[in-house]
Amino acid sequence: MYPWNWIKLMMIILLLMAGLSPLINASPLSACSNCGDFGVPYPLSTNDDCGDKRYKLYCNNDSLEFLSRTGTYYKILKIDPSANKLVIKPPIILKNTCYSSDLTGGGLQLDESSPFNISTLNTVMLLNCSHNILQSPLNCSSNSICRQFEEKVEEGSGCMGTLCCHFLKDSAMNSHKIRLKVGSCTAYTSLVDFKPNESFKTWNYGIELQWLPPN
Ligand SMILES: *[C@@H]1O[C@H](CO)[C@@H](O)[C@H](O)[C@H]1NC(C)=O
Ligand SMILES: *[C@@H]1O[C@H](CO)[C@@H](O)[C@H](O)[C@H]1NC(C)=O
Ligand SMILES: *[C@@H]1O[C@H](CO)[C@@H](O)[C@H](O)[C@H]1NC(C)=O
Ligand SMILES: *[C@@H]1O[C@H](CO)[C@@H](O)[C@H](O)[C@H]1NC(C)=O
Ligand SMILES: *[C@@H]1O[C@H](CO)[C@@H](O)[C@H](O)[C@H]1NC(C)=O
Repeated sequence: MYPWNWIKLMMIILLLMAGLSPLINASPLSACSNCGDFGVPYPLSTNDDCGDKRYKLYCNNDSLEFLSRTGTYYKILKIDPSANKLVIKPPIILKNTCYSSDLTGGGLQLDESSPFNISTLNTVMLLNCSHNILQSPLNCSSNSICRQFEEKVEEGSGCMGTLCCHFLKDSAMNSHKIRLKVGSCTAYTSLVDFKPNESFKTWNYGIELQWLPPN
């Protein structure tokens, strides 16, 4: 009697495991492990076996990075999983020039089908622009904050004396790109949640992206 019971028990266990295994493999809530000191909350994914592959990020040498459609990596500065938002570092402006490091890729470009888009909390400064972009809602006046960036911030000094503009990137604009082009504008930077009375010393540089939650 004893071995027979044992076999029955084993069969029940095996059946249970077989029934559960597809669920374990496809576990929808497995977060990826940290990248350096950075937590990688679900659905963000640095690896095929964790997170959700549509929300791909890269862990390059302990630095968590976002890859654009045109092949530029942007360092991630902050993630707010409860708001489905993250902030990436704007590209650097190459020294003694007015060229953003992502100019050859046309600025920041996200895939139209990507679950990520550019949020409406960004104030973008476009630098070294040509006159044909002078149109609202761009503020290209002599008191635009981009003048302060050129005059008071080392990184913007290479752009001094050229036409620059700033604008709030709101929902009326394409939320998948900040476009640069030689002959249009060749550099940019961005501030998250900029307040008009804020001093340039406390500007919060970044580009906030948001993602459509998985369903
Ligand atoms: C990785 O990061 C470390 C520390 O910041 C640095 O010393 C090293 O050169 C980096 N390696 C690569 C391949 O970038
Ligand atoms: C342009 O921006 C500056 C600085 O924020 C502001 O003082 C000025 O009123 C703006 N001009 C226009 C035309 O919106
Ligand atoms: C500004 O842009 C023009 C082309 O649009 C380029 O020829 C020029 O070198 C740029 N200026 C700087 C300072 O990078
Ligand atoms: C800027 O204005 C906001 C309200 O519009 C106020 O709460 C804040 O204290 C002001 N900051 C400074 C530095 O004046
Ligand atoms: C950007 O994505 C968010 C979340 O998916 C969505 O609510 C918002 O409408 C999108 N914005 C634009 C301008 O498409």
